[in-house]
Amino acid sequence: MHDDHPSAANGSADADGAPQTPGAADADRCPHPGEQDEPDRAAEPGADAGADGRAADEHPPERRPTDQRGVSRRAFGKAAVAIGGATALSACLDRFGHGAVPSGVEDPGTLPDGQHVWDEFLGLDDHDNRLSPRHHVVLLLDLTSEGVPSTEDRETVETALRSLERAYEWSSDGLLFTIGYAPRYFERFDADPDGVALPEPEPMAPFEDIEPDRPDAVLHLASDRPDVVMEAEEALFGEVDAANGRGMDATFEGVFARPDLDDTTVRRTGFVGEGLPADHTDVDGVPEDAPVDEESPLFMNFKSGFEKTQATESFVTIESGGFAGGTTQHLSKIRLNLQQWYEQDNRDQRVGKMFCPVHAEEDRVEGPGHNLGTDSGMDDACTEDVGESAREHGLVGHSQKMAADAREDDSPLMIRRDFDSTDDGHAGLHFLSVQQSIADFVETREAMNGTDLTDSSGVGQRLNNGILQYFSVQRRGNYLLPPRALRALPPADP
Ligand code: HEM
Repeated sequence: MHDDHPSAANGSADADGAPQTPGAADADRCPHPGEQDEPDRAAEPGADAGADGRAADEHPPERRPTDQRGVSRRAFGKAAVAIGGATALSACLDRFGHGAVPSGVEDPGTLPDGQHVWDEFLGLDDHDNRLSPRHHVVLLLDLTSEGVPSTEDRETVETALRSLERAYEWSSDGLLFTIGYAPRYFERFDADPDGVALPEPEPMAPFEDIEPDRPDAVLHLASDRPDVVMEAEEALFGEVDAANGRGMDATFEGVFARPDLDDTTVRRTGFVGEGLPADHTDVDGVPEDAPVDEESPLFMNFKSGFEKTQATESFVTIESGGFAGGTTQHLSKIRLNLQQWYEQDNRDQRVGKMFCPVHAEEDRVEGPGHNLGTDSGMDDACTEDVGESAREHGLVGHSQKMAADAREDDSPLMIRRDFDSTDDGHAGLHFLSVQQSIADFVETREAMNGTDLTDSSGVGQRLNNGILQYFSVQRRGNYLLPPRALRALPPADP
């Protein structure tokens, strides 16, 4: 059961209890949020060989940022994150300079107990919906040693993470991050994590053929600033000495092996937010002339993550057991195939399949859907009898299925923190969600499958069944995100 106590999300607030809203990022460093798509005649990131000795031509073609000059500043930043490494970082900094990034706290003990407590440190849109950080790196990490981690290794990991918290403000303007642990990590202790069911990932639909991810740990770095996620990654692995001008007190070197920069199964990158998908339609999986709206945060051209279609952080926080205050995370690697979405489906079909057919009928969605305000408008006409709606319209909406079948006390069961990607030169989406238990993820995904609708309506296993037809899931992983105090190589039974 979920107990929605606001106090569980104990992030810092000002004296009046008002949440801290991050200010606008400064304008003069590596590409920053909201900047115009102005042509940039600079060399591409990675054009010169640098500290890691990799020149742009050494990158496989699908990982080169672009072959043309005139790449936008926004595109430049995203491309640099995708390439990664010291060369791309220095190209980014050389081109855009070292503008100010807000510093972190002197005492990391003042940060929220939950690593996943990000909400009050995110930017807001015009309707006060929370905006995900624009740039993301996810690293799947393996420990270099066997067996139960040593106290020394634990201290090293904690010191390295505290260095990041002192270097960058805990916000989208600075850096937000989490570290989580996979079932494989807990095998070292011959025990399951106390009080948390953490299953190995499995296929979640009859048509799925996935590779399970089995690293020890997963690190998620997120910021509105591409240079910040890149620098934090480099600093953690000792490739640069300082983060935001502050020396690192320890690094992951010797404890975690550095993931190969070119291996997109272990180093995943992406972006979300207005302008970024529109800038990156030149990849496989999206028709070249796809009308991706400049205001759309995602390749599929709709806004996602309304205030009322996300669970609260207290709702997704583990309430009891050794890991109380933490949460669980699911991460899947999804390949998008948007040819038909853009070339055969019309606007009404897209609105119907993403939201609900009534939304299409009544023209409820303008552009990417910012007009909807703070929720997606799933009223009784959409959710009361989804089977009847599917029979009547011959299709069912993605949101519609889950709003009807995967809510508790009117709240979705998870917080979605997913983002688009061009890893592998292909449009994709890294679906990253946090929920109190992996069972909540499973319940949500089962609702999304809409299996019960396929016998009684024209809806197929994937055809006309929300957006299932437009993507395939390649890899899945389940993780425990311990509370901050236990994040560094925790025991199974703290
Ligand atoms: C290509 C992948 C996906 C895209 C582009 C996408 C996009 C969207 C959009 C635009 C909405 C409606 C706006 C909103 O309420 O935020 C939505 C709702 C939602 N999506 Fe997805 N989604 C994707 C995959 C998934 C997956 C894999 C899950 C989890 C199993 C999921 C869970 C949800 C939930 C829980 C809601 C809200 C339902 C409610 O209102 O109760 N989505 N998604």
